Amino acid sequence: MPVQLAHQLRNLGRYRQILSVLIKYGFADFVRHTGLSAVVSRSLGIFGNRGRSEAEFIQQSRETRLRLAIEELGPTFIKLGQVLSTRRDLVPDEVAEEFARLQSDCPVVPFDQIKAQLEREFPGRVDEIFQSIEEMPIAAASMAQAHRATLADGQKVVLKILRPGIEDILSSDMEILQFIAGVVEDYFENVGFDPIAVAEEFSRELKREVDLMQEGRSTDNLRAAFSDDPSIDFPKVYWQATTKRVLCLQEIEAELLANIGPDTFSQEIRTKIVENGSRAVFRMTLEMGFFHADPHPGNIFARPDGGIIFIDCGMVGHVDHETRLHIAELVYGVTRNDADEVMNCALALAEMDPDKIDIRRARSDVQQMVDQFIGVEMDRIDLGQVLDDFFQTLRRYGLQCPPDVVLLIKAMSTIEGVGAKLDPSFDMVTFAHPYIAKLLKDRYSPKAIARRVKIASESYLRAAEKLPSDITAIMRKIRRNELKFDFELRRIEELIETVESATDNVAHSLLISAIVIASAILVHSAPSDTISLLGTLGVIGFLTASLMGFSLMFKSWRHRRASRMMVKRARKRRK
Ligand SMILES: Nc1ncnc2c1ncn2[C@@H]1O[C@H](COP(=O)(O)OP(=O)(O)O)[C@@H](O)[C@H]1O
Ligand SMILES: [Mg+2]
Repeated sequence: MPVQLAHQLRNLGRYRQILSVLIKYGFADFVRHTGLSAVVSRSLGIFGNRGRSEAEFIQQSRETRLRLAIEELGPTFIKLGQVLSTRRDLVPDEVAEEFARLQSDCPVVPFDQIKAQLEREFPGRVDEIFQSIEEMPIAAASMAQAHRATLADGQKVVLKILRPGIEDILSSDMEILQFIAGVVEDYFENVGFDPIAVAEEFSRELKREVDLMQEGRSTDNLRAAFSDDPSIDFPKVYWQATTKRVLCLQEIEAELLANIGPDTFSQEIRTKIVENGSRAVFRMTLEMGFFHADPHPGNIFARPDGGIIFIDCGMVGHVDHETRLHIAELVYGVTRNDADEVMNCALALAEMDPDKIDIRRARSDVQQMVDQFIGVEMDRIDLGQVLDDFFQTLRRYGLQCPPDVVLLIKAMSTIEGVGAKLDPSFDMVTFAHPYIAKLLKDRYSPKAIARRVKIASESYLRAAEKLPSDITAIMRKIRRNELKFDFELRRIEELIETVESATDNVAHSLLISAIVIASAILVHSAPSDTISLLGTLGVIGFLTASLMGFSLMFKSWRHRRASRMMVKRARKRRK
């Protein structure tokens, strides 16, 4: 708690600002009830004149008010909103749609501040490194601002420069966000996701994004990976002018897809652009497992020959071979209307515990999802829609996808959206087919099998490690008399019947033996020359015993025959 308090004191100013914005947009009740307001005392005046939400916003929906508040709160919150808008497995559709409208245009940082930032990064060397830097920015986003520049050797570059002070705002916001996440977790029973985990994941993601060296390295790696493909490119990174806060990239002189008009390219070139974009994304996601996670039209340039160049590699995803295989199987399963396959992929991708969810219900939901595609031609299947549906199904069961899988799905549906705009007749699923087929074929290659054996043996080892504790748990249950087994009732009934009939037989046999012995004694003790009562009784006893014996033999023969027939019938059925 003292640590938290220290955070709160350090962030007090920002904290107060956040609370005022929340109150302004009609979340005063939330602030009051959750005790968020207790952190800053009333004397700070939050609940003064502005204690009541401003009337103009009351008319608007909760989601809209939340978006407006986020826009006013700045970069961290805008970024969080943008991330959440792509996480339909975490937030309800209405919220996701509203958050997708978040504006990322931000006020321009004046050039003298930019210049000062460069001086701090390259002390005394700015004029040595750069011939010139354009004062007018090309773009001003929430984290960074982009300026054209020329290096000493005349190379035209684009500088991406972090906003001065952004790191402090981010770390302060991050601490506050973690705190709010804790409050949300305590205050709300069932938000459908784990707020603290989401806040942490988000912090990690943001930290990666404000390290421009990281973006430089990803750009370099992707550029190298596509060096064999002349139609797909990434800008060169100039490391002599790059630091954590400044990224220096070769200037791309081509058309940004976001800016092209209906007549900018011929239909033939448009199709080429879409093909190149799709190939790039499928190769990154399905072949390489290392991908540009945000291939939207503002991050792709197109050359007059249809070749494309990706920029903005700040957000990248990684997926291992198994995950890529599951994605391939998922798409394949949908195109073949195979609900079982889709279900298995869902289970594997979301890392869900089959014991914890209602598999039967989930399977029927997945069946419904897959049924929509029955009879639909391959080229009519909308990959984005398939993946979206998949997300919604997961959400209904409170399941979350690993973040990188979400990124992959987002990358695929983003490029599909780009394609649909440029060339509506383009058939993405058919285009994806070779990549999917290759992955599926590789499933049974010796290398893939060796990999699976390795993974399986690792998981056996893990199971073996867990075994002692599992056994202890079972023993504990036995001791507490809590262990129950479910037998199949029908089998027990058969067993009871058999035991009963066996007992009957034994009882009858005993009875017959007793009668025989008794009869023998009677006959033996009777005078042998006359017909006496005792002798008569003895003979009757013998006759009765014989009859009973015959009847018992007949019954047991019939019973054995019935059993034999039953076994035979069962065998035949199994065949
Ligand atoms: N290498 C480049 N060549 C030309 N323009 C660029 C380059 N890098 C960035 N830009 C321009 O700057 C804008 C913002 O850059 P980007 O890397 O996408 O930053 P953000 O992360 O803010 O989206 C791009 O949309 C593009 O117009
Ligand atoms: Mg961008």
